Amino acid sequence: MNYKVLDSIKNSDEDALKEQFSQDVLTGFTSEKKYLSSKYFYDDKGSELFVKITDLEEYYPTKAEEEILENNKQKIVSHFNTQKLNVVELGAGDGHKTKLLLDELFNNDVPLEYNPIDISEDAIKGVCEKLNKDDFETFGIVGEYIPALKWANKNKEGKKLVLFLGSNIGNFSLHDSLVFLRTIWKNLSKDDHILIGFDMKKDINLLINAYNDDKGVTSEFNLNVLNRMNNELGANFVIGSFQHFGTYNPNIGAMESYLISTKSQTVRVDYLEKNFHFDEFEAIHLEYSFKYLQKDIEYLAKETGFEIVENFSDKKGHFVDSLWRVIKE
Ligand code: AVI
Repeated sequence: MNYKVLDSIKNSDEDALKEQFSQDVLTGFTSEKKYLSSKYFYDDKGSELFVKITDLEEYYPTKAEEEILENNKQKIVSHFNTQKLNVVELGAGDGHKTKLLLDELFNNDVPLEYNPIDISEDAIKGVCEKLNKDDFETFGIVGEYIPALKWANKNKEGKKLVLFLGSNIGNFSLHDSLVFLRTIWKNLSKDDHILIGFDMKKDINLLINAYNDDKGVTSEFNLNVLNRMNNELGANFVIGSFQHFGTYNPNIGAMESYLISTKSQTVRVDYLEKNFHFDEFEAIHLEYSFKYLQKDIEYLAKETGFEIVENFSDKKGHFVDSLWRVIKE
């Protein structure tokens, strides 16, 4: 078996996860303005729908990042010498974008091991199976990002290149991004690197289209969270009586996703033994997707203990993969 399941995952108890989910529903739905964290999008169905989103014509970030990695892989790899390198990826991804980099490192004689990290054992199994025919070693870690990174830092002796692609950082608030990046810094050594994907501020029409696709996949992705509450918490949401609404908030620089109740209705959540009332046109906020300026990237790097080595952009300037080095005394 070329992966490890961390004890924290082996011992994680389904009931505790369900309890956390229900408590988050209770807190979010009893707040003055209703909300639920976008982390609840990603059950099996949600992850499948997100992969579909990345293939959509309108969803430019994945294609822009692929272009960046394809066109800049030599430059990126030139920052690494022939010391042993552990490429640690936060999120298993579909392996395609990462493979561009891994092949380039291998072809440049950088001795390497690939360590994808994901909470889902199936996702890790999938990537490991896909890549195990390759010349470099792949060893997956099933766990939460930070404990898994800690484990890799302790057990894998090479220099680290952490990959956090796809603008996943955009779904964190500024506060959570700072905490997350500082925690990554703490668990890396001097001169380790991180390559982070940032979705840049751009023409608002492009943003609106990317989060309101014609085929309705993004709508299905957001509405799926209601299915999840029905299946896991015994709720009785009628999916057809909510509607997806994606909009850009220039004040905070983020796409925001909402579900809007299209009528006055009361929904029962059996697990919580509670009813929740939704007025006609009342909204549930579900997701922030922050967009960045160059100076925002500089601020995040500087505030969290990194130095920017180089920024790589696609031709249209829609997306940036920023390579940072860990600074430590
Ligand atoms: C996963 N994340 C970076 C996506 C984004 O663009 O914020 C999730 C997504 N939401 C709607 N479309 C895609």
